[in-house]
Amino acid sequence: MTATGSVKILLIEDNLAEARLLQEFLKQAQSKYFSVVHVQRLQDGVKELSRDQLFGAYDVILLDLTLPDSEGLSSLPTLINCLPSIPIVVLTNTNDDKLAIEAVRQGAQDYLVKRQVNVDLLVRSIHYAIERKQVLESLRTTNQTLEHCVEERTAELVRAKEINQFKSEFVSMLSHDIRNPLNTILLAAGLLQDNDNKLSTEKKHSHFQMIRAAIKNMAQLLDEVSLIGQADSGRLQCDLVCLNLEAFCRQLVDEVQLASAEKQITIVFHSAGKLEDALWDESLLRHILGNLITNAIKYSPPGSTVNFDLIGQHHAIAFRIQDYGIGIPELDQQRLFQPFQRAENVGSIPGTGLGLAIVKKCVDAHGGEIFVDSKVGSGSTFTVILPLLNL
Ligand SMILES: Nc1ncnc2c1ncn2[C@@H]1O[C@H](COP(=O)(O)OP(=O)(O)O)[C@@H](O)[C@H]1O
Ligand SMILES: [Mg+2]
Repeated sequence: MTATGSVKILLIEDNLAEARLLQEFLKQAQSKYFSVVHVQRLQDGVKELSRDQLFGAYDVILLDLTLPDSEGLSSLPTLINCLPSIPIVVLTNTNDDKLAIEAVRQGAQDYLVKRQVNVDLLVRSIHYAIERKQVLESLRTTNQTLEHCVEERTAELVRAKEINQFKSEFVSMLSHDIRNPLNTILLAAGLLQDNDNKLSTEKKHSHFQMIRAAIKNMAQLLDEVSLIGQADSGRLQCDLVCLNLEAFCRQLVDEVQLASAEKQITIVFHSAGKLEDALWDESLLRHILGNLITNAIKYSPPGSTVNFDLIGQHHAIAFRIQDYGIGIPELDQQRLFQPFQRAENVGSIPGTGLGLAIVKKCVDAHGGEIFVDSKVGSGSTFTVILPLLNL
């Protein structure tokens, strides 16, 4: 309704006498002022409504069901599609009750039998149609809001369920991985205690060695799990310091090579491109590169070579670690960055399956990306791209 409280009506009626009569009735109405725009064809009505979307607003449409350019109910969907929120009252001839009721079923708010119309009936029907349409519209929006809420809640529940499942899987993998070294310790300690006199010094030494290895294994597992926990709770912060990347990498290579001297693997380090001092988180870098180089060594045959390339790019640095080791089956490649995932070809090579999960989290924390390219039997190349954060 307009600000002045008048009701704006679009009358679509080809019979001029009927149209005049209706307009006359509306003039006589006491309760409200009705302003009427009259057209004779459906297409003119549609044109008027489209124009109306830009200018004023119609409150109701009075629609004759026998028009020259549209027969019967086919006018209804045309109008409803054009402006779905305007109520429609259809005008029918006597004995057309069936058609009238079908019109209401298809979206009209009310119907009037032309010869029976009088002022009161017409005014009542118009008011009723407007009110009914308003209630329907508000129900429709409420419904939409509710549907939206239900969708959101369902998505939340699915997410919560996934997280829950992930957590219980994590706990069961972790307990399994802790039980293994604990069993080793229990067994070796038992052997040492029960056979103290009978064991040779070498045997004793080997049992103690097993205990130490198992403890080291557990300690590493706990360190890795606590890192993943930190990352998951958003506590993996990026503490940036100014770093000479090349010197840092060379030192890291020396450390790793020293720790795996018995495998006699040569790490060939190369740097290329522009490498200016920039801001890096030393601990994140250590986790990323340390894990990738250790993996390259661990999954390569003794005596082979691992290439480590540092490539300065315009706004980023690429770290590429390439080995000629066992490679990774294609099917396993996508899951490797999830905790506890190990490829099917690891055989008896020990590991927790947490290293790459940590690498991925650290790369994310540094705003970078990681790619893997690998072929079983030929080797693997891991590439990490980290954006350059200038001083
Ligand atoms: N350089 C590599 N060559 C072959 N396989 C690799 C390599 N790096 C990682 N993988 C595979 O990815 C898995 C996950 O790696 P990671 O998370 O570091 O766990 P792990 O403790 O087993 O080394 C490994 O178990 C192995 O199957
Ligand atoms: Mg590893």
